[in-house]
Amino acid sequence: MKSYEKLLLENKAWAAEKTGDDPEFFNRLAKLQTPEFLWIGCSDSRVPANEITGTQPGEIFVHRNIANMVVNTDVNLLAVLDYAVNHLKVKHVIVCGHYGCGGIKASITNSDFKPVLNMWLRNIKDVYRLHRETLDQITDPEVKADMLVELNVQEQVFNLAKTSIIQKAWKSENRPHLHGWVYGLKDGIIKPVYEMNAGTHIDQLYEYSYEDGKS
Ligand code: CO
Repeated sequence: MKSYEKLLLENKAWAAEKTGDDPEFFNRLAKLQTPEFLWIGCSDSRVPANEITGTQPGEIFVHRNIANMVVNTDVNLLAVLDYAVNHLKVKHVIVCGHYGCGGIKASITNSDFKPVLNMWLRNIKDVYRLHRETLDQITDPEVKADMLVELNVQEQVFNLAKTSIIQKAWKSENRPHLHGWVYGLKDGIIKPVYEMNAGTHIDQLYEYSYEDGKS
C-alpha cells in the first residue's frame, strides 16, 4: 500500500466511526459551520489544532502558516480573518505558537534560505529586533528561541489588533477577544502567554476612528 492510500483507508474508518457514534454528524455539519474560534497556528505537523484542543470538526476555523504569523500584506490571512470575524462571527481569535518552532529558530540564524523563505522569516527577525534588549541577554540558544516564540505570539496578537477588521468588530460588537498561546511539543500542554480583550486600546498611532462602529 502506498503511504497516501493509508490516509484514504483511515478516512473511511474515521467516517464510519463518526456516523456510528452520531448518525446525524455529517448531515448536521454539511448544512452549516458555527465555530466560536479562529485559530492561527504554525503549519508544523506536530501542532494539529483540533487534536490538541480536543475539539471536533465544526468547532474551530483554522489558518496555519510558518511560525503563526499575522502579516498585514498576507491576503490569505486577511481573507480568513475577515470571513471569521464578519461572517462566522467568532468570539475568540487564538494565535498559537509552539516551543521548538523551526521557523523561529531559522529566523535567528544568518543563513540565506533563498528569496521566498527569507521574505517570510524577515517578519520574525523584525520581532527579534523589537525585543533585542531582552533576547540578547539570553545565552542558551534554546531558551532564547523559546522566548522569541512567546514574544512573537504577543506581537502577532498586536498585529491582529492593528487591523481595521478587528478594530471595527471591537467597536460594534465588543468581540472577538484575542489570545496568544504557546504549545509545548515536549509535554503537549498549551500555555496562555498573552491576552487582549475586545476594546483594548493599543498605540494610538494604529487606532482608526469610527463612530458607533460605522466606517
Ligand atoms: Co513552528
